Amino acid sequence: MALSLRTLVVASALFLGMCIITSGKPAETTHAYCRIVWLVGVPCDQANMALVTQMKAMGSYKLGPVTPALIQANHTSAVGQIEGVNFTMMPISMSLGCHIEGSSVSEFWFSLFDNGTNYCNLHNVIQGSGLTKAPGFIEFTNEWLCLGVGLSACK
Ligand SMILES: *[C@@H]1O[C@H](CO)[C@@H](O)[C@H](O)[C@H]1NC(C)=O
Ligand SMILES: *[C@@H]1O[C@H](CO)[C@@H](O)[C@H](O)[C@H]1NC(C)=O
Ligand SMILES: *[C@@H]1O[C@H](CO)[C@@H](O)[C@H](O)[C@H]1NC(C)=O
Repeated sequence: MALSLRTLVVASALFLGMCIITSGKPAETTHAYCRIVWLVGVPCDQANMALVTQMKAMGSYKLGPVTPALIQANHTSAVGQIEGVNFTMMPISMSLGCHIEGSSVSEFWFSLFDNGTNYCNLHNVIQGSGLTKAPGFIEFTNEWLCLGVGLSACK
């Protein structure tokens, strides 16, 4: 194992941060993951349709169950790893806007430092769907919610 002590310490700190932010209790997973919240000024059904259309157009996503409130999919990244990807939608401002939460989780624990793979899984879909140009678009995440967000260079 080439993992240095420093790497482990950094990883622990990041996971601790994520636990506090997301649930207040220890995470049940040691998989790399990314969570992003977006606000967009379009109704959720429109956002849902844009996301589904975009994922269908990208060969690397395999759609699972889709409901108005939750889109589930798996993503196969170039290196042959699989990540679970969810988009959860909640109407805001009398349904004029949509609160979308994206989460991407690596299947394997060893992809802890994933170079932003989980971030890109989510960001690329939103970008391609055109929702980044929707009125009031805002993206919120940070290193605690999203490992590697600072290192990512999405292709
Ligand atoms: C994703 O893959 C896992 C494991 O291979 C499988 O159990 C799950 O049903 C898949 N989910 C979707 C949404 O396709
Ligand atoms: C997606 O949602 C399903 C159902 O709530 C959950 O079991 C799964 O862990 C979620 N996957 C991700 C990547 O958040
Ligand atoms: C991350 O990037 C480095 C340098 O480009 C590469 O050597 C490494 O294999 C990548 N790791 C993953 C999990 O993709």
